[in-house]
Amino acid sequence: MPAELVCFAERCRARFPITEAIYNCPQCGGLLEVGYPAPAAPADELRKIWRARRTSNAPLDQSGVWRYREIIPFLERYDTVVTLREGNTPLLSGPRAAQYAGMDALVFKHQGFNPTGSFKDNGMTCGATQAIRLGMGRVACVSTGNTSASMAAYASAAGLDPIIFIPHGNISYGKLAQALEYGARTLQVEANFDQILALVRTLAERLGIYLLNSINPFRIEGQKTIMVEMMDQRDWNPPDWIVLPGGNLGNISAFGKGLREMRDLGLIRKMPRLAVVQAAGSAPFYELFHSADRAALHPVTHPETLATAIKIGDPVSWPKALHEVSCSGGTVERVTEPEIADAKAIIGRCGIGCEPASAATLAGIRKLRAAGAIAADADVVAVLTGNVLKDPDYIYRYHTGTLEGPGGVAIRAEFGNAPTVVPNDADRIAALLS
Ligand code: F0G
Repeated sequence: MPAELVCFAERCRARFPITEAIYNCPQCGGLLEVGYPAPAAPADELRKIWRARRTSNAPLDQSGVWRYREIIPFLERYDTVVTLREGNTPLLSGPRAAQYAGMDALVFKHQGFNPTGSFKDNGMTCGATQAIRLGMGRVACVSTGNTSASMAAYASAAGLDPIIFIPHGNISYGKLAQALEYGARTLQVEANFDQILALVRTLAERLGIYLLNSINPFRIEGQKTIMVEMMDQRDWNPPDWIVLPGGNLGNISAFGKGLREMRDLGLIRKMPRLAVVQAAGSAPFYELFHSADRAALHPVTHPETLATAIKIGDPVSWPKALHEVSCSGGTVERVTEPEIADAKAIIGRCGIGCEPASAATLAGIRKLRAAGAIAADADVVAVLTGNVLKDPDYIYRYHTGTLEGPGGVAIRAEFGNAPTVVPNDADRIAALLS
């Protein structure tokens, strides 16, 4: 039995051929996921094959996604795979961050080490490869930065035409620069992320363009391997908690699916608990998770946060995310703008650094630790989703005490580090430094 597209809704579970360019169930409108028959090899053998591939020079084996291809077997052939050697991201310990959060230890899985600087590359290698398989010449996405840079790179590497839609005036400059450099046709729309996603879905359907936002189930398959690689790096010992920021909620959906599949295959013995952290001004999933009635998510019409990657008021993947967080015995936290900004500076002082949304993890862990939800001696991995260079303007303002939150509210920098202007005078500089 080949891989199939399966409706995620429990009451439906309709199945469709893997070669259909669909993103929602044509029968009930539910989200779709990729379903597989049982893999050919047992867990022990998979672990051995995957470890051996680390010494291979074959592009497919060097990719931190395709190295684990037995857990994402949706292709019949691998000669069309487009890879920029994504994944291969490190686990880094941050003692200073641990101390800040009240933890004995804390480890970061840093997805910012990816070719275009974010975890999107793990998913995009799969999404772009599926576009090739479907014979779709054009691909599109809406993005506040990382998705557009990633899609532009993978589409251009594959010989596809990338079209990106971005909220006008609401994208990081560095990310826009990447998309332009990688040759994406770039449209700036006077609307927010949620509104543009609806627009792009209409256009994709009308013009026969393949949609590569995280509603695309093949993106989710690629992002699953972030968890597989992490377990491989930990010799298949699951941590107690995995903490990540949540925006459109594709990544949490991918992590949960990957972890469940690894458990079912016998690759890991227990499920880590999953904690999603949202920005307080953009926290519809937090509200849903902590409400008595979890039947429907109430969108935030005007989401506000400087962490633009998670400035999403109507996350499409919430049903999957709710399932994954609940199944894992996890939780959802929310953090304020100053909490994100200070946590980000602390991650920087570990010599690690990340973009703003990623820092919501440390701020969230600190809160969950203070509330007693996470024990001080818990084994916790925080996933830093993007590179420190995403929002340099944010960083400069923070360290010079000029960062303002939504609505112009000043953010007091607890860990500011402003540069000092000095005269060209050795004596005076020496006096300053002694
Ligand atoms: N962290 C970073 C660095 C991101 O770029 C994103 C999403 C998220 C977290 C949220 O992940 O949506 O799977 O819950 N960025 C999108 C973009 C909005 O356009 O690049 P999610």
